[in-house]
Amino acid sequence: EGAEMSVVCLTDFEAHARERLSKSTWDYIEGGAGEGFTRDDNIAAFKKIRLRPRYLRDVSQVDTRTTIQGEEISAPICIAPTGFHCLAWPDGETSTARAAQAAGLCYITSTYASRTLEDIVAAAPRGFRWFQLYVQPDRQLNKQLVQRVESLGFRALVITVDVPKLGNRRHDIRNQLNLKTNLLLKDLRSPQERNSMPYLQMSPIDSSFCWEDLSWFRTITQLPIILKGILTKEDAELAVKHNVQGIIVSNHGGRQLDDVPASVDALPEVVAAVKGKLEVYLDGGVRTGNDVLKALALGAKCVFLGRPVLWGLACKGEHGVGEVLNILKDEFHTSMALTGCRSVAEINQDLIQFSRL
Ligand SMILES: Cc1cc2nc3c(=O)[nH]c(=O)nc-3n(C[C@H](O)[C@H](O)[C@H](O)COP(=O)(O)O)c2cc1C
Repeated sequence: EGAEMSVVCLTDFEAHARERLSKSTWDYIEGGAGEGFTRDDNIAAFKKIRLRPRYLRDVSQVDTRTTIQGEEISAPICIAPTGFHCLAWPDGETSTARAAQAAGLCYITSTYASRTLEDIVAAAPRGFRWFQLYVQPDRQLNKQLVQRVESLGFRALVITVDVPKLGNRRHDIRNQLNLKTNLLLKDLRSPQERNSMPYLQMSPIDSSFCWEDLSWFRTITQLPIILKGILTKEDAELAVKHNVQGIIVSNHGGRQLDDVPASVDALPEVVAAVKGKLEVYLDGGVRTGNDVLKALALGAKCVFLGRPVLWGLACKGEHGVGEVLNILKDEFHTSMALTGCRSVAEINQDLIQFSRL
C-alpha cells in the first residue's frame, strides 16, 4: 500500500482516478467532443461568476435540504446518468446506487448501465432513482423499458435529447474504443422477454425522435418526464408547451456538440423562458460547493454530477462515491453559511455577479 491518499476535494479524486484507470477508459470518461472547448468552458464559466456574501445573519443552522419533483433530497446535488460504471469499478452501478441511497440523493440510472436494473434496485431498495432513456428505434422496447422502470420504483423518466447521434470523440476514435465488444451490456428487455442469446449489441439511439413523439410517452407512463440536454430558450418554450415536468440544462459534459455554451451560461435563458412552469436543473462542470450555489442562484433547483462520481467509483467504489458526495455536500454547506444562506430557498441572484474578465 502506497502513501495514504489525501483526498479533500473533487479534483483530488480526479488525479487519483487517473492513476487507477487504463488510458482508454480514462480518455472515454474525461474526453469531450471536437476540440474539447465546451468541456473546458463548463468549468471556466463557473469561475467567471463572483459571489456577493451577506454577513451577520445567524448561520448557526444551515439546512441544505430541498425537493425535486416534490421529493426531498438531502442537498441539491444528485448523480447524472453516466454509462458503464463497471469500467470504473467491478460492481459498477450497484455501488453507485448504495452510495446515493446513503447520501439521501437522487441517482439517475443510465440506459447504458452495465448492471441490470433489477440488480441496481436490489442493491439499494430505498434509494431515490430516476431513469435516463436513450429512445430506442423499437417502440415496443421503449414501452417495455419504461413500464419496467416504473414498476421497479424509478420516479421519473429522463429523456436525453442531445444524442440524435454520437458526438465526435477524437480520443475514443484514436483508442479504437469499442464498448460493444469490451463490455457485456445488460439486456434492455425485461427478464421474461429475454431469450437465451446474450444481448451484446449496443442498442442504437432513435435519431428520428422529435417533439411530436413525446405525447406517445405520455400514453405509456405516469412518470414525470424530464428532458436532458436543453440549451436554448426556444427549446425550453417547446418543453413547456409539451407539458414536460423538468429540464436538465446540459451539454452532455461537452461530449456531444462542441462550441455550445457552458451549461451555467445557458442556464439563465432557459430559466427565464420557462417562467416557473417547470423545474430546471443543471449538469456540467460542477466541482465545488460554490459551483452548486452559483447554479442555484441562477435558478437551478438542483445540480447533477457526471465525471466526479466516476472518479469516486474508480478510487474506492461505493465509498469513493460516498466521499465525493459528502465532500461536495460539506462544501455547499460552507458556501451557504459564508454567503449568509440558512435555507436553499434563500439562495437568489443577489448572491452573484458576473466578472468582466
Ligand atoms: C463517461 C460518461 C458517460 C456518460 N453517459 C451518459 C449516458 O449514458 N446518458 C446521458 O444522458 N448522459 C451521459 N453522460 C453525460 C452526463 O449525464 C452529464 O451530462 C455530464 O457528465 C455532466 O458533466 P460533468 O461530467 O462535467 O459533471 C455521460 C458522461 C460521461 C462523462
